[in-house]
Amino acid sequence: MSDTENSPLPTTTSSEQAGNAITRRDFLNEITLGALGIAGLGSVAVTYQFFSPNVLFEPSTTFRAGNPDLYPVGSATFLQEQQVYIVRVPEGFYAVSAVCTHLGCVTQWKPEADQGKGQIQCPCHGSKFRSDGSKVEGPAPRPLPHFAISLTADGELFVDKLQNIKPAQVLKV
Ligand code: FES
Repeated sequence: MSDTENSPLPTTTSSEQAGNAITRRDFLNEITLGALGIAGLGSVAVTYQFFSPNVLFEPSTTFRAGNPDLYPVGSATFLQEQQVYIVRVPEGFYAVSAVCTHLGCVTQWKPEADQGKGQIQCPCHGSKFRSDGSKVEGPAPRPLPHFAISLTADGELFVDKLQNIKPAQVLKV
């Protein structure tokens, strides 16, 4: 019996070693295929993006603001999704934009400000507005615009942000 037959380790021949070894050519082929695959995926992604429509999904410019009874007299209610204040005064309703006319920051209603009368304040550069949108101070060049507000047939408030109206126009309910 020879040493090779008694050895516990498996033996391999030189021809088997040659079969398992990755040649330089195989290695380069695999690298090339990988690079082509990545380039192909990239071009598919770019082509898909090119042909898909460029659509921006923005909230509707018109919206229902609910029953007038939801708003107490003397209140300014911020509707976050629409970025509008629904203001109720003894004479009726108006809808005021919550977007500052300076650089477009979203303002905040501060009910305790102006000796408890409440004030719309811009957190960015300090512009301040009364609840009717008129400017009190700060860098904002214009008052906050008023949007058209009306009543639907079933008695809900309806705001159209594409229609700016004069601040004096109040919806009487
Ligand atoms: S964006 Fe409102 S004060 Fe500048």
